[in-house]
Amino acid sequence: MSNPASHPIQAVRGMNDILPEHAGYWHWLEDSVRDVLTHYGYTEIRLPIVEKTELFLRTLGEVTDIVEKEMYTFADRNGDSLTLRPEGTAGCVRAAIENGLLHNQVQRLWYKGPMFRHERPQQGRYRQFYQIGAETFGMAGPDIDAELILMTARLWRMLGVYDNLVLHVNSLGTAQARAAYREKLVTYFSAHSAQLDEDSTRRLHANPLRILDSKNPQMQTLIAGAPQLLDHLDDESRAHFSRLCAVLDAAGVAYVVNPRLVRGLDYYGKTVFEWVTTRLGAQGTVCAGGRYDVLVEELGGKPTPAAGFAMGVERLVTLLMETGVTPPVVAPHAYMIVAGEAAEQQAMVLAETLRDGIPHLRLTVNCGGGSFKSQFKKADKSGARYALLLGEDEVVRGEIGIKSLRPTPLGGQIQAPLGEQSKAPAQQTIAQKDLINALLDIIEE
Ligand code: HAM
Repeated sequence: MSNPASHPIQAVRGMNDILPEHAGYWHWLEDSVRDVLTHYGYTEIRLPIVEKTELFLRTLGEVTDIVEKEMYTFADRNGDSLTLRPEGTAGCVRAAIENGLLHNQVQRLWYKGPMFRHERPQQGRYRQFYQIGAETFGMAGPDIDAELILMTARLWRMLGVYDNLVLHVNSLGTAQARAAYREKLVTYFSAHSAQLDEDSTRRLHANPLRILDSKNPQMQTLIAGAPQLLDHLDDESRAHFSRLCAVLDAAGVAYVVNPRLVRGLDYYGKTVFEWVTTRLGAQGTVCAGGRYDVLVEELGGKPTPAAGFAMGVERLVTLLMETGVTPPVVAPHAYMIVAGEAAEQQAMVLAETLRDGIPHLRLTVNCGGGSFKSQFKKADKSGARYALLLGEDEVVRGEIGIKSLRPTPLGGQIQAPLGEQSKAPAQQTIAQKDLINALLDIIEE
Protein backbone atom coordinates (compact mmCIF):
# COMPACT_ATOMS: atom_id res chain seq x y z
CA MET A 1 0.00 0.00 0.00
CA SER A 2 1.36 3.41 -0.87
CA ASN A 3 2.23 5.82 1.87
CA PRO A 4 -0.71 8.22 2.27
CA ALA A 5 1.75 11.02 3.07
CA SER A 6 3.06 10.80 -0.50
CA HIS A 7 -0.32 11.93 -1.86
CA PRO A 8 -0.69 15.64 -1.37
CA ILE A 9 -4.17 16.57 -0.23
CA GLN A 10 -6.14 18.40 -2.87
CA ALA A 11 -8.88 20.99 -2.62
CA VAL A 12 -12.52 19.91 -2.66
CA ARG A 13 -13.86 19.64 -6.22
CA GLY A 14 -15.40 22.89 -7.40
CA MET A 15 -13.75 24.90 -4.62
CA ASN A 16 -10.89 26.94 -5.97
CA ASP A 17 -7.82 28.65 -4.63
CA ILE A 18 -7.59 32.23 -5.74
CA LEU A 19 -3.93 32.60 -6.55
CA PRO A 20 -1.74 35.65 -5.96
CA GLU A 21 -1.39 36.15 -9.73
CA HIS A 22 -5.14 36.85 -9.89
CA ALA A 23 -5.37 38.88 -6.70
CA GLY A 24 -4.94 42.13 -8.63
CA TYR A 25 -8.15 41.43 -10.60
CA TRP A 26 -10.08 40.52 -7.46
CA HIS A 27 -8.97 43.60 -5.57
CA TRP A 28 -9.66 45.90 -8.48
CA LEU A 29 -13.12 44.44 -9.00
CA GLU A 30 -14.01 44.42 -5.30
CA ASP A 31 -12.67 47.94 -4.78
CA SER A 32 -14.53 49.25 -7.83
CA VAL A 33 -17.82 47.66 -6.75
CA ARG A 34 -17.42 48.95 -3.22
CA ASP A 35 -16.67 52.47 -4.48
CA VAL A 36 -19.70 52.54 -6.76
CA LEU A 37 -22.02 51.11 -4.09
CA THR A 38 -20.74 53.56 -1.49
CA HIS A 39 -21.20 56.49 -3.86
CA TYR A 40 -24.82 55.45 -4.41
CA GLY A 41 -25.42 55.38 -0.65
CA TYR A 42 -25.26 51.62 0.02
CA THR A 43 -23.74 50.40 3.29
CA GLU A 44 -22.12 47.07 3.94
CA ILE A 45 -23.68 44.32 5.99
CA ARG A 46 -21.61 41.26 6.96
CA LEU A 47 -23.60 38.08 7.25
CA PRO A 48 -22.89 34.59 8.55
CA ILE A 49 -21.90 31.92 6.05
CA VAL A 50 -23.99 29.32 7.89
CA GLU A 51 -27.73 29.74 8.44
CA LYS A 52 -30.53 27.50 9.64
CA THR A 53 -31.60 25.24 6.79
CA GLU A 54 -35.19 26.29 7.29
CA LEU A 55 -34.32 29.82 6.13
CA PHE A 56 -33.50 28.59 2.64
CA LEU A 57 -36.39 26.11 2.51
CA ARG A 58 -38.79 28.97 3.22
CA THR A 59 -37.28 31.55 0.88
CA LEU A 60 -35.80 29.92 -2.21
CA GLY A 61 -38.69 27.57 -3.02
CA GLU A 62 -38.89 23.85 -2.33
CA VAL A 63 -38.79 22.85 -5.99
CA THR A 64 -35.86 24.98 -7.04
CA ASP A 65 -32.61 23.30 -8.11
CA ILE A 66 -30.81 24.81 -5.15
CA VAL A 67 -33.12 23.40 -2.52
CA GLU A 68 -33.75 20.10 -4.28
CA LYS A 69 -30.16 19.12 -4.88
CA GLU A 70 -27.51 21.75 -4.29
CA MET A 71 -27.42 22.72 -0.63
CA TYR A 72 -24.56 21.83 1.68
CA THR A 73 -26.66 20.84 4.65
CA PHE A 74 -25.39 19.20 7.82
CA ALA A 75 -26.45 18.51 11.37
CA ASP A 76 -24.86 20.72 14.00
CA ARG A 77 -23.56 18.95 17.11
CA ASN A 78 -26.84 19.62 18.87
CA GLY A 79 -28.83 18.23 15.95
CA ASP A 80 -29.91 21.54 14.35
CA SER A 81 -29.98 21.40 10.59
CA LEU A 82 -27.63 24.05 9.20
CA THR A 83 -26.73 25.00 5.64
CA LEU A 84 -23.79 26.77 4.01
CA ARG A 85 -25.50 29.73 2.37
CA PRO A 86 -26.18 29.13 -1.34
CA GLU A 87 -26.94 32.84 -1.87
CA GLY A 88 -27.07 36.06 0.12
CA THR A 89 -30.60 37.45 -0.16
CA ALA A 90 -32.25 35.12 2.35
CA GLY A 91 -29.64 35.81 5.05
CA CYS A 92 -29.77 39.54 4.37
CA VAL A 93 -33.56 39.62 4.80
CA ARG A 94 -33.30 37.52 7.94
CA ALA A 95 -30.67 39.88 9.39
CA ALA A 96 -32.61 43.01 8.42
CA ILE A 97 -35.73 41.76 10.22
CA GLU A 98 -33.86 40.38 13.21
CA ASN A 99 -31.88 43.60 13.76
CA GLY A 100 -34.80 45.96 13.28
CA LEU A 101 -33.34 47.55 10.15
CA LEU A 102 -36.70 47.76 8.42
CA HIS A 103 -38.77 49.78 10.92
CA ASN A 104 -40.08 52.83 9.06
CA GLN A 105 -36.92 53.25 7.09
CA VAL A 106 -35.50 52.48 3.72
CA GLN A 107 -32.29 50.49 3.46
CA ARG A 108 -29.66 50.16 0.77
CA LEU A 109 -27.33 47.32 1.81
CA TRP A 110 -24.55 45.36 0.19
CA TYR A 111 -22.55 42.27 1.08
CA LYS A 112 -19.83 40.10 -0.35
CA GLY A 113 -18.50 36.66 0.34
CA PRO A 114 -18.49 33.00 -0.57
CA MET A 115 -21.64 31.05 -1.45
CA PHE A 116 -21.94 27.27 -1.73
CA ARG A 117 -23.92 25.16 -4.19
CA HIS A 118 -23.35 21.51 -4.95
CA GLU A 119 -23.54 21.99 -8.72
CA ARG A 120 -21.67 20.06 -11.40
CA PRO A 121 -18.38 21.98 -11.57
CA GLN A 122 -17.50 23.42 -14.96
CA GLN A 123 -16.07 26.67 -16.35
CA GLY A 124 -17.91 29.47 -14.54
CA ARG A 125 -19.85 27.15 -12.23
CA TYR A 126 -18.26 26.27 -8.93
CA ARG A 127 -19.28 24.77 -5.61
CA GLN A 128 -17.76 27.62 -3.68
CA PHE A 129 -18.05 30.91 -5.51
CA TYR A 130 -18.09 34.57 -4.52
CA GLN A 131 -20.90 37.02 -4.88
CA ILE A 132 -21.15 40.72 -4.28
CA GLY A 133 -24.79 41.58 -3.73
CA ALA A 134 -26.97 44.60 -3.06
CA GLU A 135 -30.40 44.51 -1.41
CA THR A 136 -32.78 47.44 -0.99
CA PHE A 137 -35.79 47.61 1.33
CA GLY A 138 -38.79 49.89 1.65
CA MET A 139 -38.92 51.22 -1.92
CA ALA A 140 -41.77 49.94 -4.06
CA GLY A 141 -41.40 51.89 -7.29
CA PRO A 142 -39.50 51.16 -10.49
CA ASP A 143 -37.05 53.97 -9.62
CA ILE A 144 -35.06 51.73 -7.30
CA ASP A 145 -35.13 48.87 -9.85
CA ALA A 146 -33.69 51.37 -12.33
CA GLU A 147 -31.07 52.55 -9.83
CA LEU A 148 -29.86 48.99 -9.28
CA ILE A 149 -29.51 48.50 -13.02
CA LEU A 150 -27.91 51.89 -13.73
CA MET A 151 -25.46 51.30 -10.89
CA THR A 152 -24.31 48.02 -12.40
CA ALA A 153 -24.13 49.62 -15.88
CA ARG A 154 -21.83 52.30 -14.41
CA LEU A 155 -19.66 49.61 -12.90
CA TRP A 156 -19.34 47.73 -16.22
CA ARG A 157 -18.31 50.98 -17.90
CA MET A 158 -15.72 51.65 -15.19
CA LEU A 159 -14.30 48.18 -15.63
CA GLY A 160 -14.34 48.41 -19.43
CA VAL A 161 -16.68 45.43 -20.01
CA TYR A 162 -19.96 47.23 -20.77
CA ASP A 163 -19.73 46.45 -24.50
CA ASN A 164 -19.48 42.73 -23.73
CA LEU A 165 -22.69 42.57 -21.73
CA VAL A 166 -26.35 42.49 -22.68
CA LEU A 167 -29.04 43.43 -20.20
CA HIS A 168 -32.10 41.14 -20.16
CA VAL A 169 -35.19 42.36 -18.34
CA ASN A 170 -38.61 40.86 -17.71
CA SER A 171 -41.55 41.21 -15.36
CA LEU A 172 -42.94 38.26 -13.45
CA GLY A 173 -45.98 40.23 -12.28
CA THR A 174 -47.74 39.74 -8.98
CA ALA A 175 -48.30 36.35 -7.38
CA GLN A 176 -51.94 36.41 -8.56
CA ALA A 177 -51.01 37.19 -12.16
CA ARG A 178 -48.39 34.45 -12.06
CA ALA A 179 -50.87 31.95 -10.65
CA ALA A 180 -53.32 32.62 -13.50
CA TYR A 181 -50.52 32.44 -16.05
CA ARG A 182 -49.23 29.25 -14.49
CA GLU A 183 -52.59 27.56 -15.20
CA LYS A 184 -52.30 28.57 -18.85
CA LEU A 185 -48.77 27.19 -19.03
CA VAL A 186 -49.75 23.88 -17.44
CA THR A 187 -52.61 23.55 -19.93
CA TYR A 188 -50.30 24.34 -22.84
CA PHE A 189 -47.46 22.03 -21.81
CA SER A 190 -49.86 19.24 -20.77
CA ALA A 191 -51.29 19.31 -24.26
CA HIS A 192 -47.76 18.66 -25.55
CA SER A 193 -46.60 16.36 -22.76
CA ALA A 194 -44.98 13.89 -25.17
CA GLN A 195 -42.48 16.57 -26.18
CA LEU A 196 -41.41 17.39 -22.61
CA ASP A 197 -38.00 16.18 -21.44
CA GLU A 198 -37.51 14.55 -18.03
CA ASP A 199 -36.73 17.79 -16.18
CA SER A 200 -39.69 19.60 -17.67
CA THR A 201 -42.09 16.74 -16.94
CA ARG A 202 -40.99 16.92 -13.33
CA ARG A 203 -41.54 20.67 -13.30
CA LEU A 204 -44.90 20.60 -15.10
CA HIS A 205 -46.98 20.83 -11.95
CA ALA A 206 -44.37 21.85 -9.38
CA ASN A 207 -42.81 24.83 -11.15
CA PRO A 208 -43.97 25.16 -14.77
CA LEU A 209 -42.40 28.61 -15.24
CA ARG A 210 -38.96 27.03 -14.98
CA ILE A 211 -39.72 25.00 -18.12
CA LEU A 212 -39.34 28.29 -20.01
CA ASP A 213 -35.77 28.43 -18.73
CA SER A 214 -34.82 25.06 -20.25
CA LYS A 215 -31.66 25.07 -22.34
CA ASN A 216 -32.52 21.74 -24.04
CA PRO A 217 -32.40 22.44 -27.82
CA GLN A 218 -35.20 19.90 -28.42
CA MET A 219 -37.55 21.90 -26.23
CA GLN A 220 -37.02 25.27 -27.86
CA THR A 221 -39.79 25.18 -30.49
CA LEU A 222 -42.31 24.05 -27.90
CA ILE A 223 -41.22 26.82 -25.52
CA ALA A 224 -41.33 29.44 -28.28
CA GLY A 225 -45.02 28.64 -28.81
CA ALA A 226 -45.95 28.87 -25.11
CA PRO A 227 -48.15 31.70 -23.82
CA GLN A 228 -46.05 34.62 -22.58
CA LEU A 229 -46.25 36.04 -19.09
CA LEU A 230 -45.82 39.60 -20.35
CA ASP A 231 -49.18 39.17 -22.15
CA HIS A 232 -50.84 38.13 -18.88
CA LEU A 233 -49.47 40.74 -16.51
CA ASP A 234 -51.69 42.60 -14.06
CA ASP A 235 -52.08 46.33 -14.75
CA GLU A 236 -49.87 47.44 -11.88
CA SER A 237 -46.97 45.22 -12.89
CA ARG A 238 -47.36 46.29 -16.51
CA ALA A 239 -47.18 49.98 -15.52
CA HIS A 240 -44.22 49.30 -13.19
CA PHE A 241 -42.37 47.54 -15.99
CA SER A 242 -43.00 50.20 -18.61
CA ARG A 243 -41.84 52.93 -16.21
CA LEU A 244 -38.63 50.98 -15.59
CA CYS A 245 -38.07 50.58 -19.32
CA ALA A 246 -38.71 54.31 -19.81
CA VAL A 247 -35.97 55.21 -17.30
CA LEU A 248 -33.53 52.83 -18.98
CA ASP A 249 -34.38 54.35 -22.38
CA ALA A 250 -33.93 57.88 -21.06
CA ALA A 251 -30.61 56.97 -19.40
CA GLY A 252 -29.36 55.35 -22.60
CA VAL A 253 -28.94 51.85 -21.17
CA ALA A 254 -29.82 49.31 -23.86
CA TYR A 255 -31.78 46.19 -22.86
CA VAL A 256 -33.59 43.20 -24.28
CA VAL A 257 -37.04 42.34 -23.01
CA ASN A 258 -36.73 38.59 -22.51
CA PRO A 259 -40.10 36.99 -21.75
CA ARG A 260 -38.34 33.71 -20.93
CA LEU A 261 -36.29 35.19 -18.13
CA VAL A 262 -37.89 33.57 -15.06
CA ARG A 263 -34.88 33.17 -12.68
CA GLY A 264 -34.14 30.07 -10.67
CA LEU A 265 -35.34 31.26 -7.26
CA ASP A 266 -38.95 31.49 -6.15
CA TYR A 267 -39.00 34.79 -4.31
CA TYR A 268 -39.17 37.11 -7.31
CA GLY A 269 -42.15 39.14 -8.52
CA LYS A 270 -42.39 42.01 -11.00
CA THR A 271 -38.94 43.11 -12.24
CA VAL A 272 -36.22 40.55 -12.92
CA PHE A 273 -32.98 41.18 -14.80
CA GLU A 274 -29.70 39.59 -15.82
CA TRP A 275 -26.49 40.90 -17.34
CA VAL A 276 -25.24 38.28 -19.79
CA THR A 277 -22.08 37.92 -21.86
CA THR A 278 -21.38 35.61 -24.78
CA ARG A 279 -17.68 35.55 -23.86
CA LEU A 280 -17.92 32.91 -21.12
CA GLY A 281 -19.69 30.01 -22.83
CA ALA A 282 -22.73 28.48 -21.15
CA GLN A 283 -22.30 30.31 -17.82
CA GLY A 284 -22.65 33.79 -19.23
CA THR A 285 -24.74 35.50 -16.55
CA VAL A 286 -22.43 37.71 -14.50
CA CYS A 287 -25.06 39.57 -12.47
CA ALA A 288 -28.70 38.86 -11.76
CA GLY A 289 -31.50 40.08 -9.58
CA GLY A 290 -34.93 41.54 -9.28
CA ARG A 291 -37.77 42.50 -7.02
CA TYR A 292 -38.99 40.31 -4.13
CA ASP A 293 -41.77 42.25 -2.43
CA VAL A 294 -43.27 39.35 -0.46
CA LEU A 295 -40.14 37.86 1.07
CA VAL A 296 -39.82 40.07 4.15
CA GLU A 297 -43.39 39.29 5.15
CA GLU A 298 -42.92 35.59 4.46
CA LEU A 299 -40.01 35.60 6.89
CA GLY A 300 -42.06 37.24 9.60
CA GLY A 301 -41.39 40.94 8.98
CA LYS A 302 -43.88 43.68 8.14
CA PRO A 303 -44.78 43.86 4.43
CA THR A 304 -41.74 45.59 2.89
CA PRO A 305 -41.01 46.02 -0.80
CA ALA A 306 -37.51 44.88 -1.72
CA ALA A 307 -35.21 44.50 -4.71
CA GLY A 308 -31.58 43.58 -5.28
CA PHE A 309 -28.99 41.75 -7.31
CA ALA A 310 -25.86 39.66 -6.94
CA MET A 311 -22.88 39.40 -9.22
CA GLY A 312 -20.60 36.39 -9.62
CA VAL A 313 -17.06 37.52 -8.92
CA GLU A 314 -15.28 34.58 -10.63
CA ARG A 315 -17.27 35.11 -13.81
CA LEU A 316 -16.51 38.83 -13.84
CA VAL A 317 -12.82 38.23 -13.23
CA THR A 318 -12.77 35.73 -16.09
CA LEU A 319 -14.57 38.24 -18.30
CA LEU A 320 -11.99 40.91 -17.45
CA MET A 321 -9.20 38.49 -18.35
CA GLU A 322 -10.96 37.26 -21.53
CA THR A 323 -11.45 40.77 -22.80
CA GLY A 324 -7.87 41.79 -22.00
CA VAL A 325 -8.86 44.39 -19.43
CA THR A 326 -6.01 44.61 -16.93
CA PRO A 327 -6.14 45.99 -13.41
CA PRO A 328 -3.84 48.82 -12.42
CA VAL A 329 -0.45 47.37 -11.43
CA VAL A 330 0.29 47.58 -7.73
CA ALA A 331 3.99 46.79 -7.60
CA PRO A 332 6.24 47.90 -4.74
CA HIS A 333 7.75 51.34 -5.07
CA ALA A 334 11.00 49.94 -3.75
CA TYR A 335 12.66 46.62 -2.92
CA MET A 336 15.37 46.70 -0.27
CA ILE A 337 18.38 44.53 -1.04
CA VAL A 338 20.25 43.56 2.11
CA ALA A 339 23.72 41.98 2.41
CA GLY A 340 25.31 40.94 5.70
CA GLU A 341 24.13 40.43 9.26
CA ALA A 342 24.59 44.04 10.40
CA ALA A 343 22.70 45.22 7.35
CA GLU A 344 19.84 42.77 8.04
CA GLN A 345 19.20 44.29 11.43
CA GLN A 346 19.49 47.84 10.16
CA ALA A 347 17.26 47.11 7.17
CA MET A 348 14.35 46.14 9.39
CA VAL A 349 14.64 49.29 11.48
CA LEU A 350 15.22 51.55 8.48
CA ALA A 351 12.23 50.04 6.66
CA GLU A 352 9.98 50.78 9.65
CA THR A 353 11.25 54.38 9.73
CA LEU A 354 10.48 54.74 6.02
CA ARG A 355 6.97 53.33 6.53
CA ASP A 356 6.42 55.76 9.40
CA GLY A 357 7.58 58.66 7.27
CA ILE A 358 5.77 57.71 4.06
CA PRO A 359 2.53 55.90 4.96
CA HIS A 360 1.62 55.18 1.34
CA LEU A 361 5.02 53.64 0.60
CA ARG A 362 4.94 50.13 -0.85
CA LEU A 363 8.22 48.63 0.27
CA THR A 364 9.38 45.02 0.20
CA VAL A 365 12.43 44.10 2.24
CA ASN A 366 14.45 41.12 1.07
CA CYS A 367 14.28 38.48 3.80
CA GLY A 368 16.11 35.18 3.83
CA GLY A 369 19.47 36.40 2.48
CA GLY A 370 20.91 35.54 -0.92
CA SER A 371 23.60 36.95 -3.15
CA PHE A 372 23.29 40.47 -4.57
CA LYS A 373 22.55 38.91 -7.95
CA SER A 374 19.70 36.74 -6.70
CA GLN A 375 18.27 39.61 -4.66
CA PHE A 376 18.35 41.85 -7.72
CA LYS A 377 16.46 39.17 -9.60
CA LYS A 378 13.81 39.10 -6.89
CA ALA A 379 13.65 42.89 -6.89
CA ASP A 380 13.10 42.89 -10.63
CA LYS A 381 10.47 40.14 -10.45
CA SER A 382 8.57 42.07 -7.79
CA GLY A 383 8.01 44.85 -10.33
CA ALA A 384 9.57 47.42 -7.98
CA ARG A 385 10.66 50.67 -9.58
CA TYR A 386 13.67 51.15 -7.32
CA ALA A 387 16.11 48.92 -5.52
CA LEU A 388 17.51 50.19 -2.21
CA LEU A 389 20.93 48.71 -1.51
CA LEU A 390 22.13 48.15 2.01
CA GLY A 391 25.47 46.29 2.38
CA GLU A 392 28.17 46.27 5.04
CA ASP A 393 29.81 49.44 3.62
CA GLU A 394 26.56 51.38 3.60
CA VAL A 395 25.88 50.34 7.19
CA VAL A 396 29.27 51.58 8.34
CA ARG A 397 28.87 54.90 6.51
CA GLY A 398 25.19 55.41 7.37
CA GLU A 399 24.34 55.43 3.67
CA ILE A 400 22.08 53.59 1.25
CA GLY A 401 22.21 52.99 -2.50
CA ILE A 402 19.26 53.73 -4.77
CA LYS A 403 19.04 52.18 -8.20
CA SER A 404 16.30 52.69 -10.74
CA LEU A 405 15.06 49.33 -12.04
CA ARG A 406 12.62 50.53 -14.65
CA PRO A 407 11.42 53.80 -16.17
CA THR A 408 8.68 55.74 -14.40
CA PRO A 409 5.26 54.91 -15.86
CA LEU A 410 4.12 57.13 -18.69
CA GLY A 411 2.58 60.28 -17.35
CA GLY A 412 4.71 60.20 -14.22
CA GLN A 413 6.48 63.45 -13.51
CA ILE A 414 9.84 62.01 -12.61
CA GLN A 415 11.74 60.58 -15.55
CA ALA A 416 14.62 59.06 -13.63
CA PRO A 417 15.58 59.30 -10.01
CA LEU A 418 17.76 61.76 -8.24
CA GLY A 419 18.85 64.08 -11.00
CA GLU A 420 20.29 61.34 -13.21
CA GLN A 421 17.71 61.83 -15.93
CA SER A 422 20.09 61.23 -18.79
CA LYS A 423 21.55 57.96 -17.52
CA ALA A 424 19.60 54.73 -17.20
CA PRO A 425 19.72 52.79 -15.05
CA ALA A 426 20.37 55.54 -12.55
CA GLN A 427 22.15 54.75 -9.32
CA GLN A 428 23.53 56.77 -6.47
CA THR A 429 24.33 56.57 -2.81
CA ILE A 430 22.89 58.96 -0.26
CA ALA A 431 22.86 59.37 3.50
CA GLN A 432 20.18 57.19 5.17
CA LYS A 433 18.83 60.26 6.94
CA ASP A 434 18.00 61.80 3.54
CA LEU A 435 16.21 58.72 2.27
CA ILE A 436 12.67 59.70 3.23
CA ASN A 437 12.91 62.98 1.35
CA ALA A 438 14.58 61.35 -1.62
CA LEU A 439 11.85 58.72 -1.84
CA LEU A 440 9.12 61.31 -1.42
CA ASP A 441 10.59 63.11 -4.42
CA ILE A 442 10.57 60.11 -6.68
CA ILE A 443 7.51 58.02 -5.86
CA GLU A 444 4.07 59.03 -6.87
CA GLU A 445 0.99 58.86 -4.63
P1 HAM B 1 -28.32 33.84 -8.76
O1 HAM B 1 -28.75 34.09 -10.18
O2 HAM B 1 -28.53 32.50 -8.24
O3 HAM B 1 -29.05 34.93 -7.89
O4 HAM B 1 -26.78 34.19 -8.64
C1 HAM B 1 -26.28 35.47 -8.95
C2 HAM B 1 -24.98 35.33 -9.72
O5 HAM B 1 -24.04 34.55 -8.98
C3 HAM B 1 -25.08 34.60 -11.05
O6 HAM B 1 -25.53 35.46 -12.06
C4 HAM B 1 -23.66 34.16 -11.26
O7 HAM B 1 -22.89 35.22 -11.79
C5 HAM B 1 -23.19 33.85 -9.87
N1 HAM B 1 -23.28 32.40 -9.60
C6 HAM B 1 -24.37 31.70 -9.25
N2 HAM B 1 -24.07 30.39 -9.09
C7 HAM B 1 -22.76 30.27 -9.35
C8 HAM B 1 -21.84 29.16 -9.36
N3 HAM B 1 -22.21 27.92 -9.03
N4 HAM B 1 -20.55 29.41 -9.70
C9 HAM B 1 -20.15 30.66 -10.01
N5 HAM B 1 -20.95 31.73 -10.03
C10 HAM B 1 -22.25 31.54 -9.70
C11 HAM B 1 -28.90 35.04 -6.53
O8 HAM B 1 -28.08 34.45 -5.89
C12 HAM B 1 -29.81 36.07 -5.92
N6 HAM B 1 -29.60 36.05 -4.46
C13 HAM B 1 -29.53 37.44 -6.52
C14 HAM B 1 -30.40 38.50 -5.92
C15 HAM B 1 -30.04 39.37 -4.94
N7 HAM B 1 -31.65 38.74 -6.22
C16 HAM B 1 -32.12 39.74 -5.48
N8 HAM B 1 -31.14 40.12 -4.68
